[in-house]
Amino acid sequence: MKLKLPSPGELGDRLRDSEVWKSIFRPGSVFRKGYKDTSRDRALATMNNVLYHLHPTKVKRHGLKLTYTFCLGGLSFFLFIVLTVTGIFLMFFYRPMADLGGAQAYADMQSIRTTVFFGDWMRNMHRWGAHLMVFSVTLHMARVFYTGAYKPPREFNWVVGVILLFLTLGLSFTGYLLPWDQLSIWAVTVGTSLGGYAPFIAKQANFLLLGGAVVGPQTLLRWYVLHVLALPFVLVLFLAVHFWRIRKDGGISGPL
Ligand code: HEM
Repeated sequence: MKLKLPSPGELGDRLRDSEVWKSIFRPGSVFRKGYKDTSRDRALATMNNVLYHLHPTKVKRHGLKLTYTFCLGGLSFFLFIVLTVTGIFLMFFYRPMADLGGAQAYADMQSIRTTVFFGDWMRNMHRWGAHLMVFSVTLHMARVFYTGAYKPPREFNWVVGVILLFLTLGLSFTGYLLPWDQLSIWAVTVGTSLGGYAPFIAKQANFLLLGGAVVGPQTLLRWYVLHVLALPFVLVLFLAVHFWRIRKDGGISGPL
Protein backbone atom coordinates (compact mmCIF):
# COMPACT_ATOMS: atom_id res chain seq x y z
CA MET A 1 0.00 0.00 0.00
CA LYS A 2 1.33 3.38 -0.95
CA LEU A 3 1.44 5.98 1.83
CA LYS A 4 0.12 9.35 0.68
CA LEU A 5 2.01 12.17 2.31
CA PRO A 6 0.14 15.48 2.73
CA SER A 7 1.42 18.35 0.61
CA PRO A 8 3.06 21.34 2.39
CA GLY A 9 -0.11 23.34 1.68
CA GLU A 10 -2.34 20.70 3.32
CA LEU A 11 0.03 20.48 6.28
CA GLY A 12 -0.15 24.24 6.69
CA ASP A 13 -3.95 24.15 6.57
CA ARG A 14 -4.09 21.39 9.18
CA LEU A 15 -1.73 23.29 11.44
CA ARG A 16 -3.77 26.47 11.15
CA ASP A 17 -6.97 24.49 11.88
CA SER A 18 -5.50 23.04 15.07
CA GLU A 19 -6.67 24.24 18.47
CA VAL A 20 -3.08 24.99 19.56
CA TRP A 21 -2.62 27.41 16.63
CA LYS A 22 -6.00 29.07 17.30
CA SER A 23 -5.17 29.46 20.98
CA ILE A 24 -2.04 31.42 20.07
CA PHE A 25 -3.29 33.57 17.18
CA ARG A 26 -6.48 35.50 17.95
CA PRO A 27 -9.27 36.07 15.40
CA GLY A 28 -8.23 38.75 12.92
CA SER A 29 -4.56 37.78 13.05
CA VAL A 30 -2.89 37.66 9.64
CA PHE A 31 -1.71 34.15 10.62
CA ARG A 32 -5.30 32.89 11.06
CA LYS A 33 -6.90 30.99 8.20
CA GLY A 34 -9.21 33.12 6.08
CA TYR A 35 -7.62 36.49 6.91
CA LYS A 36 -8.68 39.01 4.29
CA ASP A 37 -7.12 42.39 3.70
CA THR A 38 -10.40 44.16 4.40
CA SER A 39 -11.04 47.15 6.63
CA ARG A 40 -12.81 44.87 9.15
CA ASP A 41 -9.99 42.29 9.34
CA ARG A 42 -7.35 45.00 9.58
CA ALA A 43 -9.23 46.57 12.52
CA LEU A 44 -9.58 43.13 14.16
CA ALA A 45 -5.85 42.49 13.72
CA THR A 46 -5.08 45.77 15.50
CA MET A 47 -7.56 45.22 18.34
CA ASN A 48 -6.62 41.63 19.09
CA ASN A 49 -2.85 41.98 19.05
CA VAL A 50 -1.06 42.63 22.33
CA LEU A 51 1.24 45.23 20.76
CA TYR A 52 -0.95 46.70 18.04
CA HIS A 53 -3.93 47.29 20.34
CA LEU A 54 -2.06 50.21 21.89
CA HIS A 55 -2.65 51.99 18.59
CA PRO A 56 -6.07 53.19 17.50
CA THR A 57 -7.59 51.11 14.71
CA LYS A 58 -7.90 54.23 12.60
CA VAL A 59 -5.74 57.37 12.55
CA LYS A 60 -6.83 60.69 11.08
CA ARG A 61 -4.74 61.77 8.12
CA HIS A 62 -3.75 65.09 9.70
CA GLY A 63 -2.42 63.21 12.74
CA LEU A 64 0.29 61.69 10.54
CA LYS A 65 1.65 65.00 9.30
CA LEU A 66 5.18 65.20 10.67
CA THR A 67 5.41 68.99 10.66
CA TYR A 68 2.35 69.27 12.92
CA THR A 69 3.69 67.45 16.00
CA PHE A 70 7.32 66.97 14.88
CA CYS A 71 6.81 63.75 16.85
CA LEU A 72 8.13 65.63 19.89
CA GLY A 73 5.92 63.70 22.33
CA GLY A 74 6.98 60.44 20.68
CA LEU A 75 10.60 61.55 20.84
CA SER A 76 10.25 62.33 24.55
CA PHE A 77 8.83 58.85 25.10
CA PHE A 78 11.62 57.26 23.07
CA LEU A 79 14.21 59.11 25.19
CA PHE A 80 12.47 57.89 28.34
CA ILE A 81 12.87 54.28 27.09
CA VAL A 82 16.58 54.92 26.29
CA LEU A 83 17.05 56.39 29.77
CA THR A 84 15.35 53.40 31.39
CA VAL A 85 17.53 50.87 29.55
CA THR A 86 20.83 52.73 30.11
CA GLY A 87 19.81 53.52 33.71
CA ILE A 88 19.24 49.82 34.49
CA PHE A 89 22.69 49.12 33.03
CA LEU A 90 24.27 51.75 35.32
CA MET A 91 22.45 50.32 38.35
CA PHE A 92 24.48 47.12 38.03
CA PHE A 93 27.68 49.05 38.82
CA TYR A 94 26.63 51.94 41.03
CA ARG A 95 26.11 52.04 44.81
CA PRO A 96 24.55 55.18 46.35
CA MET A 97 26.95 55.22 49.32
CA ALA A 98 29.02 58.09 50.64
CA ASP A 99 29.45 57.37 54.35
CA LEU A 100 32.12 55.66 56.49
CA GLY A 101 34.69 58.18 55.35
CA GLY A 102 34.55 57.06 51.70
CA ALA A 103 32.75 58.12 48.58
CA GLN A 104 31.70 54.80 47.05
CA ALA A 105 29.26 56.52 44.69
CA TYR A 106 31.98 58.69 43.18
CA ALA A 107 34.38 55.73 42.90
CA ASP A 108 31.67 53.63 41.21
CA MET A 109 30.96 56.41 38.74
CA GLN A 110 34.68 56.62 37.94
CA SER A 111 34.98 52.88 37.46
CA ILE A 112 31.91 52.89 35.17
CA ARG A 113 33.79 55.44 33.05
CA THR A 114 37.11 53.64 33.03
CA THR A 115 36.81 49.90 33.65
CA VAL A 116 33.25 48.77 32.85
CA PHE A 117 32.80 47.42 29.32
CA PHE A 118 30.79 50.05 27.37
CA GLY A 119 30.43 51.90 30.70
CA ASP A 120 31.44 55.36 29.55
CA TRP A 121 29.26 55.02 26.47
CA MET A 122 26.22 54.00 28.54
CA ARG A 123 26.83 56.77 31.05
CA ASN A 124 27.06 59.37 28.29
CA MET A 125 23.90 58.03 26.63
CA HIS A 126 22.16 58.40 29.99
CA ARG A 127 23.44 61.92 30.59
CA TRP A 128 22.84 63.25 27.08
CA GLY A 129 19.50 61.43 26.92
CA ALA A 130 18.44 63.23 30.10
CA HIS A 131 19.38 66.66 28.72
CA LEU A 132 17.63 65.87 25.44
CA MET A 133 14.48 64.67 27.19
CA VAL A 134 14.15 67.94 29.14
CA PHE A 135 14.67 69.75 25.84
CA SER A 136 12.19 67.66 23.84
CA VAL A 137 9.48 67.75 26.54
CA THR A 138 9.81 71.56 26.65
CA LEU A 139 9.57 71.79 22.84
CA HIS A 140 6.61 69.37 22.89
CA MET A 141 4.82 71.62 25.36
CA ALA A 142 5.59 74.66 23.18
CA ARG A 143 4.18 72.84 20.13
CA VAL A 144 1.00 71.94 22.03
CA PHE A 145 0.64 75.57 23.07
CA TYR A 146 1.43 76.95 19.62
CA THR A 147 -1.15 74.73 17.89
CA GLY A 148 -3.76 75.44 20.60
CA ALA A 149 -3.98 71.72 21.39
CA TYR A 150 -4.54 72.53 25.10
CA LYS A 151 -8.09 73.73 24.32
CA PRO A 152 -11.17 71.58 25.07
CA PRO A 153 -11.45 68.62 25.06
CA ARG A 154 -7.71 68.35 25.73
CA GLU A 155 -7.39 70.64 28.76
CA PHE A 156 -7.18 67.70 31.17
CA ASN A 157 -4.33 66.20 29.15
CA TRP A 158 -2.54 69.54 29.32
CA VAL A 159 -2.68 69.31 33.12
CA VAL A 160 -1.39 65.72 32.97
CA GLY A 161 1.37 67.07 30.71
CA VAL A 162 2.36 69.74 33.25
CA ILE A 163 2.72 66.97 35.87
CA LEU A 164 4.87 65.02 33.37
CA LEU A 165 7.05 68.09 32.89
CA PHE A 166 7.63 68.43 36.64
CA LEU A 167 8.36 64.69 36.93
CA THR A 168 10.89 64.96 34.08
CA LEU A 169 12.58 67.92 35.78
CA GLY A 170 12.52 66.03 39.10
CA LEU A 171 14.25 63.04 37.49
CA SER A 172 16.84 65.30 35.94
CA PHE A 173 17.53 67.07 39.23
CA THR A 174 17.70 63.93 41.40
CA GLY A 175 20.01 62.24 38.88
CA TYR A 176 22.37 65.19 38.98
CA LEU A 177 23.47 64.40 42.56
CA LEU A 178 24.32 60.75 41.94
CA PRO A 179 27.88 61.11 40.52
CA TRP A 180 28.71 62.67 43.92
CA ASP A 181 31.36 65.00 42.51
CA GLN A 182 31.93 68.62 43.53
CA LEU A 183 29.69 69.89 40.75
CA SER A 184 26.71 67.81 41.81
CA ILE A 185 27.10 68.35 45.56
CA TRP A 186 27.24 72.14 45.22
CA ALA A 187 24.53 72.30 42.57
CA VAL A 188 22.22 70.39 44.90
CA THR A 189 23.26 72.56 47.86
CA VAL A 190 22.21 75.64 45.90
CA GLY A 191 19.07 73.99 44.50
CA THR A 192 17.79 72.68 47.81
CA SER A 193 18.50 75.90 49.70
CA LEU A 194 15.68 77.35 47.58
CA GLY A 195 13.40 75.15 49.69
CA GLY A 196 14.66 77.12 52.69
CA TYR A 197 12.84 80.17 51.34
CA ALA A 198 9.43 78.49 51.20
CA PRO A 199 6.88 80.38 53.31
CA PHE A 200 5.96 78.77 56.68
CA ILE A 201 7.53 75.36 55.98
CA ALA A 202 11.07 76.47 55.06
CA LYS A 203 12.85 74.33 57.67
CA GLN A 204 10.68 71.27 57.09
CA ALA A 205 11.02 71.54 53.27
CA ASN A 206 14.78 71.75 53.54
CA PHE A 207 14.97 68.79 55.92
CA LEU A 208 12.66 66.73 53.71
CA LEU A 209 14.82 67.36 50.64
CA LEU A 210 18.17 66.77 52.36
CA GLY A 211 17.31 64.19 55.03
CA GLY A 212 19.45 66.38 57.31
CA ALA A 213 20.83 69.89 57.65
CA VAL A 214 23.34 69.70 54.78
CA VAL A 215 23.86 67.58 51.65
CA GLY A 216 25.20 64.26 52.91
CA PRO A 217 25.02 60.46 52.50
CA GLN A 218 21.37 60.48 53.57
CA THR A 219 20.56 62.97 50.77
CA LEU A 220 22.27 60.69 48.27
CA LEU A 221 20.25 57.65 49.32
CA ARG A 222 17.01 59.65 49.36
CA TRP A 223 17.57 61.07 45.89
CA TYR A 224 18.71 57.72 44.53
CA VAL A 225 15.45 56.04 45.59
CA LEU A 226 13.49 58.94 44.10
CA HIS A 227 15.54 58.77 40.89
CA VAL A 228 15.46 55.03 40.16
CA LEU A 229 12.13 54.04 41.67
CA ALA A 230 9.60 56.58 42.91
CA LEU A 231 9.70 59.19 40.15
CA PRO A 232 9.92 56.75 37.17
CA PHE A 233 7.02 54.75 38.65
CA VAL A 234 4.81 57.82 38.98
CA LEU A 235 5.91 59.05 35.52
CA VAL A 236 4.89 55.74 33.90
CA LEU A 237 1.47 55.97 35.57
CA PHE A 238 0.92 59.50 34.26
CA LEU A 239 2.26 58.54 30.82
CA ALA A 240 -0.36 55.79 30.62
CA VAL A 241 -3.07 58.34 31.44
CA HIS A 242 -1.54 60.81 28.92
CA PHE A 243 -1.59 58.28 26.06
CA TRP A 244 -5.03 56.97 26.98
CA ARG A 245 -6.41 60.52 26.97
CA ILE A 246 -4.96 61.25 23.51
CA ARG A 247 -7.10 58.36 22.20
CA LYS A 248 -10.19 59.33 24.20
CA ASP A 249 -9.92 62.99 23.12
CA GLY A 250 -10.20 61.89 19.48
CA GLY A 251 -6.53 61.45 18.56
CA ILE A 252 -4.11 64.22 17.71
CA SER A 253 -5.75 67.62 17.39
CA GLY A 254 -5.65 69.23 14.00
CA PRO A 255 -7.21 71.53 11.47
CA LEU A 256 -10.88 70.54 11.43
C1 HEM B 1 7.33 62.84 29.62
C2 HEM B 1 6.81 63.81 28.90
C3 HEM B 1 5.82 63.67 27.78
C4 HEM B 1 5.64 62.65 26.88
C5 HEM B 1 6.46 61.37 26.75
C6 HEM B 1 4.51 63.01 26.03
C7 HEM B 1 4.03 62.26 24.99
C8 HEM B 1 3.05 62.67 24.10
C9 HEM B 1 2.76 62.07 22.81
C10 HEM B 1 3.47 60.84 22.23
C11 HEM B 1 1.78 62.78 22.22
C12 HEM B 1 1.19 62.55 20.82
C13 HEM B 1 1.48 63.75 19.92
C14 HEM B 1 2.90 64.20 19.81
O1 HEM B 1 3.81 63.35 19.67
O2 HEM B 1 3.13 65.43 19.87
C15 HEM B 1 1.37 63.81 23.16
C16 HEM B 1 0.34 64.70 22.98
C17 HEM B 1 -0.02 65.70 23.88
N1 HEM B 1 0.72 66.12 24.96
FE1 HEM B 1 2.36 65.19 25.69
N2 HEM B 1 4.02 64.23 26.46
C18 HEM B 1 4.79 64.68 27.50
C19 HEM B 1 4.68 65.89 28.16
C20 HEM B 1 3.69 66.83 27.90
C21 HEM B 1 3.66 68.17 28.44
C22 HEM B 1 4.75 68.78 29.32
C23 HEM B 1 2.49 68.75 27.99
C24 HEM B 1 1.93 70.13 28.29
C25 HEM B 1 2.05 70.75 29.42
C26 HEM B 1 1.79 67.79 27.17
C27 HEM B 1 0.56 67.95 26.60
C28 HEM B 1 0.07 67.19 25.56
C29 HEM B 1 -1.19 67.42 24.86
C30 HEM B 1 -2.25 68.50 25.20
C31 HEM B 1 -1.25 66.48 23.81
C32 HEM B 1 -2.35 66.36 22.74
C33 HEM B 1 -1.82 67.17 21.57
C34 HEM B 1 -2.68 67.15 20.34
O3 HEM B 1 -3.72 66.49 20.34
O4 HEM B 1 -2.29 67.84 19.38
N3 HEM B 1 2.57 66.63 27.12
N4 HEM B 1 2.20 63.74 24.28
